[in-house]
Amino acid sequence: MLVMGIESSCDDTGVAVLKDGKEPLANLLSSQVKIHSIFGGVVPELAARKHLDNILPLTHKALSEAGISLSDIDCIGVTNRPGLVPSLLVGLTFAKGLSFGKDIPLIGVNHLEAHAFAVFLEREVEFPFVCLVVSGGHTNLFLVEDYGVMKLLGKTLDDAAGEAFDKVAKLLGLGYPGGPVIDAISKKGDPSRIRFPVSRVDGYNFSFSGVKTAVMMYLKRENPDLSDEAVKADIAASFQEAVVKALVEKTLKAASDYGVKSVVVSGGVACNSRLREAFCRCSGELGISCHFPSPGLCTDNALMVAYVASYRFERGERDALDLDAFSRI
Ligand code: KG4
Ligand code: ZN
Repeated sequence: MLVMGIESSCDDTGVAVLKDGKEPLANLLSSQVKIHSIFGGVVPELAARKHLDNILPLTHKALSEAGISLSDIDCIGVTNRPGLVPSLLVGLTFAKGLSFGKDIPLIGVNHLEAHAFAVFLEREVEFPFVCLVVSGGHTNLFLVEDYGVMKLLGKTLDDAAGEAFDKVAKLLGLGYPGGPVIDAISKKGDPSRIRFPVSRVDGYNFSFSGVKTAVMMYLKRENPDLSDEAVKADIAASFQEAVVKALVEKTLKAASDYGVKSVVVSGGVACNSRLREAFCRCSGELGISCHFPSPGLCTDNALMVAYVASYRFERGERDALDLDAFSRI
């Protein structure tokens, strides 16, 4: 069984080919970070146009890397929700064209389900587990009961955690995307130097716009010397600590409330070294095992989309050509 995955929900165009739901034959990604970094964030119209430039050459390259032709593909899985609708439409329309032209079954994939199951490309995790999908566009907590059976427990009420990293990096003049730079410079900083509060919200929901504003107010009030790398590292580390603490606390509370033995953390922010460390330490104390996909599978990629499409295809699921794109799940 050969499944092609297509991903274009945000600013990365991805095309992958997965064999029998486990063997990656190709996994290509074309990042648009250079264009969007000029604006300090993703510009939806530019992202959609760039997907259009990228998608056909990337598909040719993926097929040639996999050593197959389009007619060998048994199913096409494409992200159709949630995401930037102009971006989603490029991948979706392209996938529909291939499906119609070559009579290949089509399956629309939920991007968050793809993030939640990305880890399965590397190892199986026993059901049920709690999954935190934490990226530039999402901060969602799920109880995952089976393949594709996910109950939403909570989500961010405002900014996604990655969005807060990107905005704080912008305030500190660190460029876009902010997460990796904050992660790197925080290693030299003191995380207990400044106390940035994270808003406490009900249940398993999150809120990160307050902590971003707290950093902004601190910069206004204290006017710290941002040309001093040590000063900047302390601010970055203190902000990162506040976000990490909130993510770890809520996720592990959900895990113990639901009595699950495993937690999966995925999405771009799951690359964060302090987050990984904190999850491993705290989950160990509670006897919960913690699983992270390797960094290339945490960030947006088409292989995770192909993985979800593979088990849906095996179950006999198919989507019609009137499949639509949605900004929300
Ligand atoms: O999953 P992803 O590639 O795209 C979205 O679906 O958003 O995640 C990108 C986000 C960006 O906000 C980026 O700053 C953040 O993930 N990110 C990180 C790290 N690496 C990427 N945040 C914190 N620490 C990192 N090491
Ligand atoms: Zn994503």
